[in-house]
Amino acid sequence: MRTTLVLLALLATTVAFWHNTGRAQPQSTHTVTFAVRQINNAAATCDSLIRKTSEPSSRHYGQHKSLSQVNAIFLNREAVRRVESWLATQGHQFETIGDYIKVTSSISNLETLLSAKFHAYRHFNIANKIFYKTDAHTVPIEIANDVEFVLNVDLPRVIPHSFTRSKSALVDADGNTTPSVINTQYGITNNTVTSATQSLFEALGQNFSPDDLSAFQQQYQLPNIPISKVTGNNDGSSCSDNPDACGEANLDVQYMLAVAQSTETHYRVIDQGSQDPFYDWIIELSQATDTAHVHSVSYGSLAPEDPKTDMQRFNTEVCKLGLRGVTIVVASGDDGVANFPARQDPSQCGFVPSFPATSPYVLAVGATMGPEAGNPEIACTSDAGGLITTGGGFSVTFNRPSYQDKAVQNYLANAPNLPDQSHFAVNGRAYPDVAALGHNYVIIDGGSQTVVSGTSASAPVFAAILTLVNDQRLLNGKTTLGFVNPALYKAPASLWTDITSGRNNCAAGQEGSQVCCDEGFTATTGWDPLTGLGSPKFEQLNAYLGKL
Ligand SMILES: *[C@@H]1O[C@H](CO)[C@@H](O)[C@H](O)[C@H]1NC(C)=O
Repeated sequence: MRTTLVLLALLATTVAFWHNTGRAQPQSTHTVTFAVRQINNAAATCDSLIRKTSEPSSRHYGQHKSLSQVNAIFLNREAVRRVESWLATQGHQFETIGDYIKVTSSISNLETLLSAKFHAYRHFNIANKIFYKTDAHTVPIEIANDVEFVLNVDLPRVIPHSFTRSKSALVDADGNTTPSVINTQYGITNNTVTSATQSLFEALGQNFSPDDLSAFQQQYQLPNIPISKVTGNNDGSSCSDNPDACGEANLDVQYMLAVAQSTETHYRVIDQGSQDPFYDWIIELSQATDTAHVHSVSYGSLAPEDPKTDMQRFNTEVCKLGLRGVTIVVASGDDGVANFPARQDPSQCGFVPSFPATSPYVLAVGATMGPEAGNPEIACTSDAGGLITTGGGFSVTFNRPSYQDKAVQNYLANAPNLPDQSHFAVNGRAYPDVAALGHNYVIIDGGSQTVVSGTSASAPVFAAILTLVNDQRLLNGKTTLGFVNPALYKAPASLWTDITSGRNNCAAGQEGSQVCCDEGFTATTGWDPLTGLGSPKFEQLNAYLGKL
C-alpha cells in the first residue's frame, strides 16, 4: 500500500521558502566567522600528503598524523593572532577554533565591521529563528590579507537526504530493509565492535530518541547500546509529537548502531539556527581531539550555489581529517542528476551536483534497492518504485581526482545512453563512489514503525561497514582507514556487487507522480554515477582493507 510521502524539513534557496523581513534589527545578536588563511599552499599540500598515506601501494600507507602535526603544517598562528588582536582593539568578543574566529556582536557592530547591510530572513518551516544575510560585505583592510573569507553572511541551503512514509505504510508487499536484510545482502556475520568509533552529523532541527533506539534494538534483538556521546542539543522527547523532526536522525542512529554495534557512537548535531551547518561541523572537527574514526553525513546542498573558495577550504578540512585517519561518508542525494529543486518543479531539471558529496575527499554513497523484496540489487530509482532516485553525476567545481580516473574514463567511454557531454561537467569529480541499500528501511520513530527511503540510509550503513573494517584493523595493530577512496578504487572487482540496472533521471517521489527529467545517467558494468563501484561484499572488502 502506498501513501503520501512526507517531506522532511526542506531548506532551499528557492525564494518561496524564505521570507525577507527587511533590515535586521540593529540590536540583534549574530555571529560571523572569519576563516583565517592557511599556510603552505594548504589545498595542494594536503592533497600530496594524503596520496602518500592513502594509496595502497605507498610505503607510507596508513601513517596518520596527529592534530598537532596537522596544525603545524597548515595553521597560520601569526595570522590568527593578528586577526584576534585587531578584533580585540576594536572591542569585539570572539572565540577562536584553530584558524576560524567567531565574532559575536550586535548587527549594528557587525555591519560596521563588514561594511555591510544585514537583512533578516525567516524560513517557512522553522519557527522562532531569524537568519541573516548580506548582499555584499568587505573584510576590514587591516585583516584582509589574513582572512580567506567570512561565513554566516548567507542563508543555509541544506536538506536531509531521506524520505519518510507515514506510519500506515508499514511493512508492505514491496518488502522492507531491516538489519538482517543488510547483513544477509552484504555477508556481514558479526556486528560487534570492540574499539572503533563512529559518529553522525545531524542538523536542521533533527532529534533522535533514545527510547526509539531501544525499542528498535529490542524489536530486532540487537544489543541495547545507546549513543555514547551527544554534542549539541538533542530533544528525543519531541519525536512522539513530531516524528518528521526525528525521521532522519532516528534512521541514522538506529542503522549505524545496528550494523556496527560500537559503544563509542557519537551524535553531533548542529543547531537549527546555524547558517552553515556543514561549516559549523567541520570547524569543530578540525580541532577536536576526540573525533570519531568514521563520520556519516546524510545531508546535502546544491553545489553550484556554494561559493567555490568555501567549498575548496571545506575540502581541505576533510583532507586534513583524512591525514588524521578520519573517514567522512556522505549520502549522494535522492533526486537523481537534477537534485532536490526538481522534486517540485520540472523546470529545474538538469545536472546539479550535490555538496559535500562531490568533495574529492569524502566517500559518497548512492542507494540501491531490490533485496528487501527478494529481488536482485539494482539502483534505487523512483521510476522503479524506489521513492527516491540515487543521486550522482559530476562536480562542476572540482576536477576528477586521479584515484577515479580509470573507473570514470571507462564509464565515459562505454556508458549506454550517455547524455551529451556538453550538458554535464565531464571532467569533474564523479560521484557516488559506492552504494548500499536505501529503500524501505523500517525504523521506530516517535514510538511507531515508519518506513524510510534515501541515500540517507545508505550512508550510515556504509559508514558502519567501515567501522567494522576499522575495528579489525585496530585489533590487528593497524591504523584506521582514514581517506579510503584510493584503496577502494584500486580494489579488485570481486569486492563489489556491480549494480548494472537503473537510470537516475527522475527526482524523488511516488512512482507515476514524480518529476522525471529527459536526461540522466544509466547504470552499467563497472563504476557508474548511480551506484559507484557497487555495493560491498563485506568479507572480501574486510580482507582486502585489512591487509593494507
Ligand atoms: C565478533 O567480533 C568481535 C570483535 O572483533 C569478537 O570479539 C567476537 O569474538 C566475534 N564474535 C564471533 C561470534 O565471531
